[in-house]
Amino acid sequence: MMLLDVRDLSVEFVTSEGAALRAVDGLSFSLGRGEALGIVGESGCGKTTAMLALLRLLPPAGRIAGGQVLFDGTDLLDLAPAELRRRRWGDLAIVFQGAMSALNPVRSVGDQIREAVAAHLPLSRPEAERRVGELLDMVGISASRAGQYPHQYSGGMRQRAMIAMALACGPQLLIADEPTTALDVMVQAQILDLLNHLREQLNLGLIIVTHDLGVVAETCQAVLVMYGGRLAEHGPSAEVFAAPRHPYTRSLLRAFPDLGRPGVAPEGIPGSPPRLSDLPPGCRFHPRCGLARERCLVEGPAARMVVPGHRVACHYPIDAPGPQALAADPALQERWGRPEGA
Ligand SMILES: Nc1ncnc2c1ncn2[C@@H]1O[C@H](COP(=O)(O)OP(=O)(O)OP(=O)(O)O)[C@@H](O)[C@H]1O
Ligand SMILES: [Mg+2]
Repeated sequence: MMLLDVRDLSVEFVTSEGAALRAVDGLSFSLGRGEALGIVGESGCGKTTAMLALLRLLPPAGRIAGGQVLFDGTDLLDLAPAELRRRRWGDLAIVFQGAMSALNPVRSVGDQIREAVAAHLPLSRPEAERRVGELLDMVGISASRAGQYPHQYSGGMRQRAMIAMALACGPQLLIADEPTTALDVMVQAQILDLLNHLREQLNLGLIIVTHDLGVVAETCQAVLVMYGGRLAEHGPSAEVFAAPRHPYTRSLLRAFPDLGRPGVAPEGIPGSPPRLSDLPPGCRFHPRCGLARERCLVEGPAARMVVPGHRVACHYPIDAPGPQALAADPALQERWGRPEGA
């Protein structure tokens, strides 16, 4: 059984005028133990919202509009609040975007981790303190620094401390939202090494939300690309980076130095991501897509498997077989959908 199986998850924000804006629309993916998934896409595409929905930690204006979040076979969306609180942090935990600045400046780091431990586990004070030492050790901080305050820690160490806190109750799935933003390059690499090491050592499922495709290429076996609240492409990172099938993925890669086309200057993506209040009809990417055709303007593409384990939501994926090849081969039709007019 998959550790995490997200099925058709949709999330809405209700505006002050009472309108419901869909920030995540029909998102599905799964993740096994010991696997790392990178979630990428431009700002506002719904990455954080989707992750908060998994944990049922949406802000008050947000609500889950549909779908299932199966964790080890149990739908987290069905759980009563008390049961959910227990499973959250104990089963799955998140390191929030911008978490480093969430540490309380006037309390020692060790105290803050101990509090996270004590809030969830019935430990005596000495046991909790021992656990803090263990957790600090797991993230590469000497236990002797537990008594220090956040300002005595570097940015990288503060991020490590946040990871230690997330691990307090021994989760099986760790979600890290922008874990390396605002850190310098060397420290970024160390934090990624740490996450990877923890994944292996603890057999964690790991989701890394990031703008940095390089992070995904180095750390994650699979990548999920989101656009305008929907899945655009999902597959093994090596395959997606080498041969993206969705025009948006290709644009993202080309916008990133040295990943899209090594040696070629990065190319920005023309236009801007859609606003939720003003989503284009058809494929949400069509206004910015150089390959859009008539059908893309009117019909939103469903995700389909192009190769086992590699899904694309595009009517005309890059390197798809041509109409004649399709017409001639039922097996190809099965995979790519029937050709137009057939
Ligand atoms: N509390 C909220 N109330 C209303 N709308 C929200 C709220 N939080 C997020 N949104 C909207 O939901 C959409 C998705 O936002 P989200 O923060 O999930 O994007 P993101 O992909 O994480 O972006 P970034 O890369 O900048 O972190 C955006 O259009 C955003 O404006
Ligand atoms: Mg975000």
